[in-house]
Amino acid sequence: DKIVLTGIKPTGQVHVGNYIAAIKPALQIAQNSHCTALYFVADYHGLTFIQNRESFNELSYGIAATWLALGLNPEKVIFYRQSDVPEIFELSWILSCLAPKGLMNRAHAYKAVVDKNEQLGLDMDAGVNMGLFTYPILMAADILLFQTDEVPVGKDQIQHVEIARDLAEAFNRNYGETLKLPSYIVDDQTAVIPGLDGRKMSKSYNNTIPLFESAANLKKLISRIKTDSTAPHEPKDPDSSNIFLLYKEFASAAQVEELRDNFHSGISWGDAKQELYQVMNAYLEQPREKYHKLMASRDEIDEILSAGAKKARAMAQPLLEQVKHKIGRYR
Ligand code: TYM
Repeated sequence: DKIVLTGIKPTGQVHVGNYIAAIKPALQIAQNSHCTALYFVADYHGLTFIQNRESFNELSYGIAATWLALGLNPEKVIFYRQSDVPEIFELSWILSCLAPKGLMNRAHAYKAVVDKNEQLGLDMDAGVNMGLFTYPILMAADILLFQTDEVPVGKDQIQHVEIARDLAEAFNRNYGETLKLPSYIVDDQTAVIPGLDGRKMSKSYNNTIPLFESAANLKKLISRIKTDSTAPHEPKDPDSSNIFLLYKEFASAAQVEELRDNFHSGISWGDAKQELYQVMNAYLEQPREKYHKLMASRDEIDEILSAGAKKARAMAQPLLEQVKHKIGRYR
């Protein structure tokens, strides 16, 4: 069985980009193929950004409820909170002792802050905590601890999976073949989901469509998606349209073909947005309800996550022991 693993950090509401690039493919893989799937709330990654108790707590539950509402089956998927698996943090330390600092200097989350600070004329490390700086090492530990084969993610995480490979190689070179080199799974079509303004949809750009907005807000947000100035009755190119790109993810094959024809025969942007709203709302209506139910009483989430953490720890412990053996912790 291959091992598939992915995580989402609780730094904002789960949005359509997270869903399309990570959650949807991950749930499909877990359902269809022979694999052991490990999906988790990357809460200690979120802590690098969210240091308010209530928000951190609320957002973490939100991630868990989202996966469950979208159909994650806890019988099939090992579903846990990162912070409930201390083995991850122990491996993270061991890996950090093998990680060249220069590799972290080039990691893009950190580099983005440095570049911005330089533009603003600030100290290069202003606002950077060590958690953000070593973020890719913790992510490598998430992945390597379970001998992961495949990591379904969006394009922005490719570099992090490559760093995990680099660190596994560094370990293996020094101590002998131990850690498996993971690969990422990124679908070309959905590698970067655009946000309302056309830039990458991102919690930090404030341009997201949260997955479980109310129907009314969903409609409002969709109406704000930026479109070009093609006149209402002119033919439009579906394949360069962000509206069509989102529509494809939530509509049936027949609906997609119909909208494609309507683009060619000159549907207005307003009507195209209305179509998008309708399929998205229909698709999300039930999960949204389930999400609010799960969030109202958190007992079910707690139970599932703690059972998941137990399984994850049982899986992780033998490898961590092996790693400790290799580095010279035992006779
Ligand atoms: P996070 O929480 O930022 O995002 C979760 C997932 O959503 C993807 N994503 C997108 N994909 C396409 N278009 C977008 N606009 C878009 N925005 C977000 C991300 O690529 C990601 O797959 N570091 C990770 C969390 C993490 C993790 C891991 C992932 C921690 N440990 C181990 C995989 C394996 C992160 O910040 O994702």
